[in-house]
Amino acid sequence: MKSSECHGFYKWSIDERLRFLQEFSGLTDEEIALLRKEGGLSLDRAERMIENVVGFMPIPLGIAVNFLINNKDYLIPMAIEEPSVVAAASNAARMARPSGGFWACSTDPIMIAQIQAVGIKDPHFAKVSVLSSKDEILRLANEQDPVLVSLGGGARDLDCKVLNTPVGKMLVTELYVDCRDAMGANTVNTMAEAVAPLIERITGGRVYLRILSNLATRRLARAKVTVSKEAVGGEDVVDGIVSAYEFAAADPYRCATHNKGIMNGIIAVALATGNDTRALEAGAHAYAARSGHYSPLTVWEKNPRGDLSGSIELPIAVGIVGGATHAHPIAKIALKILGVKSARELAEVMAAVGLAQNLAALRALAAEGIQRGHMSLHARNIAIMAGATGDLVDKVAERMVSERKVRLDRARELLRELGGQPA
Ligand code: MEV
Repeated sequence: MKSSECHGFYKWSIDERLRFLQEFSGLTDEEIALLRKEGGLSLDRAERMIENVVGFMPIPLGIAVNFLINNKDYLIPMAIEEPSVVAAASNAARMARPSGGFWACSTDPIMIAQIQAVGIKDPHFAKVSVLSSKDEILRLANEQDPVLVSLGGGARDLDCKVLNTPVGKMLVTELYVDCRDAMGANTVNTMAEAVAPLIERITGGRVYLRILSNLATRRLARAKVTVSKEAVGGEDVVDGIVSAYEFAAADPYRCATHNKGIMNGIIAVALATGNDTRALEAGAHAYAARSGHYSPLTVWEKNPRGDLSGSIELPIAVGIVGGATHAHPIAKIALKILGVKSARELAEVMAAVGLAQNLAALRALAAEGIQRGHMSLHARNIAIMAGATGDLVDKVAERMVSERKVRLDRARELLRELGGQPA
């Protein structure tokens, strides 16, 4: 089995990284050429994805290394504009490896579709009527997607609730649909629209909305990790991370940033694989607030040996078939790099990446602070802008970081001192 473990990946040239990637993931020469082509998407194809196309907005695609999840090595494609995120995920994954990496699991890929019926005089009576017609409603829903049903998915169950609102009582029917390897938005929306007239007939009410819920509480992914106190930098850092978690648990202002850090990783993988990033954000934050108190998506504890235990749980509604996962050539390559065989496996990987991202952020915050990591990348960019090449990039950058003077004029001076030629 190939290992995703890699030291100093960030120092390799793009050619070296692509060679490693090709070897690990079995990408073809054409796929490698497409990665090199800035954006990898043609105008023609873009026109078929959205409306009013005028061009592209390319985002860098990086590879996080060192990930071991459920005993399997992964290279993680991440599309993101923010520096440090990919390096941080790789670092956290490296810390987790000696204790066995990440362990992840997930529920069946069940999406919820909501059908809102209004104007019902006796909504509680209507609720029982809908529940008694479950078989008929599910049958009608499943007639909309025989392919999904043949793959073992489809509408599995339903429930009903009466909401008390300022404009009167509403009866909301929720369809639970197993979407298998699709994210499933189209399928469940089609099913919800198809059963609406039947719900109107059963309830005597009028249906307005028929749409999925992004609060996908039946499509959860979970991951856990143990990191030894040695790997994390000592028991003091373990305590710092636990205390950072408790801070987030106690204060929504900190918690928003804590969860943002988690989503840095999850959204970067979602974007790389052509998944709906807004759906994931909406679901994650609504899930974090489900108790009425906005809470962290991860938990960090100190185990009896003084090591760090981390866990994460959130809805991750993603697909590996359909939509942009299929239409976008880079998304297809990203899925090939991941080598995931199901939407559930992708969700599990993403949960592990989110947990890793949070570990990296909290470790940096609890130890040296976040700016050092940011600064080294920034310093490398400034060194390159000053004209440094080869080894001199790192030498100039390291000096600027240690002096805490990351500036173009200083980079030029250092470059001259080290025998280079400023640009
Ligand atoms: C920056 O994009 C993310 C962090 O702010 C997350 C955190 O504070 O936990 C570093």
